[in-house]
Amino acid sequence: MQHWFSDLQAFRRDALGLLDERGRNAKGPFVRLRLAPFPVYLVTDPDLVKPILKMDGTDIDKGRLIYKLRAIVGKSSLTTSGPDQKERRATLHRQIARGTASTYVPQISALVRGTFARLLREDSFDAHQVSAALALRIIANVLFGEGVLSSSDEAALLNAVKLVEDDLAEGMFRIGPPAPWTWISNRRRLRTARTIMASVVRRTRARATASSLLASLNGLGLSDRDLEDEVLMILLAGHHTTGSVAAWLLYHVAADAELARSLAEEAARCTGPGGELRASDLPTASVSLGVVREVLRLYPAAWWFSREVKASKVQIAGHTFRRGTSLLISPWHMHRDARFWPEPERFDPSRQPTSRAYIPFGAGPRACVGLGMAMLELQVIALELAAAFEADVLMRAPPDAPKPSITLVPPALTLSLKPRCPLALGSAAA
Ligand code: HEM
Repeated sequence: MQHWFSDLQAFRRDALGLLDERGRNAKGPFVRLRLAPFPVYLVTDPDLVKPILKMDGTDIDKGRLIYKLRAIVGKSSLTTSGPDQKERRATLHRQIARGTASTYVPQISALVRGTFARLLREDSFDAHQVSAALALRIIANVLFGEGVLSSSDEAALLNAVKLVEDDLAEGMFRIGPPAPWTWISNRRRLRTARTIMASVVRRTRARATASSLLASLNGLGLSDRDLEDEVLMILLAGHHTTGSVAAWLLYHVAADAELARSLAEEAARCTGPGGELRASDLPTASVSLGVVREVLRLYPAAWWFSREVKASKVQIAGHTFRRGTSLLISPWHMHRDARFWPEPERFDPSRQPTSRAYIPFGAGPRACVGLGMAMLELQVIALELAAAFEADVLMRAPPDAPKPSITLVPPALTLSLKPRCPLALGSAAA
């Protein structure tokens, strides 16, 4: 007989495998996952994703699963709802929507170039270690202004996130409280992480520049604590996701010399007379867009997200769900389901991901507010890498699967970098 938690062990052992298997074998648009002392359903029909995400907040909204993130990012615009959230979201959107975000391209390019130039001195490097730090530097530049975060602040923030990411992920689905000693050590780690993060934010706040995102948030009249939570959330949501995806981007460009050459040619076409990437060319730069979209398909950093039924009951596609039911939406499962994608496991940047099963950034009024920023960042990384460098994969075996944590964390991806020979590109372009 099945009980409330009969899927929990399988989820802990191999969450991605469980989502894949249940999604693929579903007989209807929803499949029950026995993971919690309340009903949890995986949405398996992509046609229902947008309608669910667009439902009125009094019927369906964010719920207890996402609220668990409040332990680290407080009541920020990721973890709350209502008029306050809308106002904060609108402020973020004004500053980082695709059109506005393009003004950051010179800054992002400079940070990417600097990072790659430093890597030339190394025999090898781990893609995720590099991309996580780079993504944090980029989002911190947008948030506080150029160069405000020092390298020791950066290291402290990265360590703080590492300290708690697995505890947070593990705490999403857990039967009852953890053992007392686990609870104590988790609490201690959380407190340490929060203290480190808050102290970095407090110090850097004072130095934020007038055109920074923080200056705009300041205009909202938030309390110190709310502002700090918002800043932490942006640092976390803005680097953990993009940093993970960027690691796979570096890996795939390094693994395919032909692809790297096409990107280098595209970079040359998008480069102005002063050697700068032209932001206005990026929306039509199809090679880099294809690569970015395909890494987001195969490695969607937000591998699941959820909504909770708030009304006493709601009807969706003939099914009735009671208050407190969680509906899980898994980009991981949707992006790899053979019903929607031919040869889903194959990395193919020439795919047209117009499929309705493509949802790396969610959808509707709570879709990722950093979408434009993230797409730009990833495109710039791909183009800057291929324009001036040749990367190589130094691993004999294929990489391990990603690790499902609060986002999808890449495995070790060992690469090396050398300068690209300009002649090689010239002869290929001829
Ligand atoms: C590859 C990079 C990224 C991916 C895959 C991603 C994915 C997502 C997804 C799927 C959601 C919706 C979750 C839901 O509906 O419950 C979301 C929300 C959000 N993301 Fe991102 N994200 C990325 C980058 C960023 C960046 C760079 C920022 C920068 C600030 C950001 C800020 C946010 C915020 C604030 C929300 C909450 C929006 C709201 O609830 O109104 N994300 N993200």
